[in-house]
Amino acid sequence: MNDKNRYRNTESMITHGNPSFQAAKEAGLMDLSVRGTGRGTLALPDGREFINTCSCSYLGLDSHPEVLDGAIQILQREKTMNLAISRLRVRLSAMDELEAELSRLWRAKTVVTTTASAASAGLLPLIASGHLLPDGKRPVLVFDKAAHFSMNLIKPICADETEVLTSPHNDLDFLEDVCRKHARVAYVADGFYSMGGAAVVKELLALQDRYGLFLYFDDSHSLSLYGTAGEGFVRTLIGGDLGPRTLIIGSLGKGFGTAGGAVMLGPGHHTDLVGRFAGPLGWSQSLTVPAIGASLASARIHGTPELAERQQALRANIRYFDERIPTRTRGEDFPIKVIEVGPEAEAVERSRRMLERGFYTSAVFFPIVPKGRAGLRIMLRANLAQADLQRLCDALRDVAAPVA
Ligand SMILES: Cc1ncc(COP(=O)(O)O)c(C=O)c1O
Repeated sequence: MNDKNRYRNTESMITHGNPSFQAAKEAGLMDLSVRGTGRGTLALPDGREFINTCSCSYLGLDSHPEVLDGAIQILQREKTMNLAISRLRVRLSAMDELEAELSRLWRAKTVVTTTASAASAGLLPLIASGHLLPDGKRPVLVFDKAAHFSMNLIKPICADETEVLTSPHNDLDFLEDVCRKHARVAYVADGFYSMGGAAVVKELLALQDRYGLFLYFDDSHSLSLYGTAGEGFVRTLIGGDLGPRTLIIGSLGKGFGTAGGAVMLGPGHHTDLVGRFAGPLGWSQSLTVPAIGASLASARIHGTPELAERQQALRANIRYFDERIPTRTRGEDFPIKVIEVGPEAEAVERSRRMLERGFYTSAVFFPIVPKGRAGLRIMLRANLAQADLQRLCDALRDVAAPVA
C-alpha cells in the first residue's frame, strides 16, 4: 500500500500550481523590485509607480513615525541586531517588556515569536502529543480544510504523534461527530481566513463547553483590527481568561505593523514547555532587536484612542469598497476581498491590466485557492486615501468585473 502523500502532495501542488505562477511572472506580476516614493506609492526601476493594494498592514502602522522611531531608538540603545542566542537562555529585557505589555493589552499570557508560521510549527506538534492539553493526553487533531498553509505544512509531523483528520470548512456537524466518538479532540483553524470569511467561533466555543474541545486559532488577519486593544476577532468573542483549552496565535507583520508573531496562552498552559520544546521558538533567532523596538511602539499605540481611529478608517474604506464592488464577503467588515474570475489565465490578465491602471492586485490561483476558482485578491487599508480608493474601484469595475 502506498502510504505516501497522506497529508501533503508536493508533486501535485507544483504540477498544477507552477504554470500559473509562471504565467504571472511572464505578465510582469512577480518579482517586482521596487523603491518607496514616500508618497504612498512604490516605484519600479523604469519609473512606473503603483499603489500596493495587497498589503496586510491593514492599519498603516508599518509606516507610523513612532513605530519607525521605536526601531531606530532601540538599535541606538542596544547596539545589536540580534543577541543570537536562544531566548530561553538570554534575552533582552525589552522583549520581556513587550510581552508584558501585549499580555496586559490582550488579557492573556503572550509570547512573541519570529513569525506566526514558526509559532504553528512549534506549537502544533505539542498539541498533537497532548502536552498542551489540560490532561496531557493526545487528542484526535482536526484541521479545517481551509486552514492556512503555515498550519497544513505541519500536518505530517502532527500525524507522527496522533490521528489527524481534515474537516470540511466550518463544518460543525463533522466536528461534533468526531467529538462524540473521541474523548479528546483538538481543532485547528484560522480566525479570519486569508481568502475571506471567519471561523464560527461562538459555535466552536459551544462545542468546547459541551465536549471539552481544544481550539487552536491562527488569527493573523484580525489582530489589531478587532477589539479595543487590537486583541483580534477570536479574543473579543472570549470573555474573561482564555482558559486552558484555547490557544490563539497571530502575525505581528500584518495589522500590528511590525514583524514577528505572537502566541496567546491560556493560564493552564505550560510556558516553560513551549519555550523549551516548541522547536523554532527556542532556537537562536528570536524577534530581532529593531522589531522589538517597533513592536513596543505599536503596542503603545494599541493602548491609545488612535487604534480605534485607524480601525474606523479601515472600516469606512471597507464600506466604501463594498458599496461599489460585489464580492463573496460583501458587508462582512473584512479587509480582504477576492474577486473570483474562474480560469487562472483570466486572473493573471486582469491583474496585469490593474497594474497598468496603477494598482497591484494579487492574481490568486491554485494552490492558493481551489483549482478553477482563480481571482484577484485585494486588501483594504486604513491609509488608502479616498481618491485612490475611488480610482481603485473604477479600475476594478472596468477591468475585473466579477463573474455573475
Ligand atoms: C492565516 C495566516 N497565518 C500565518 C501567515 C504567515 O504569517 P508569518 O509571515 O508571520 O509567518 C499568513 C500569511 O502570510 C496567514 O495568512
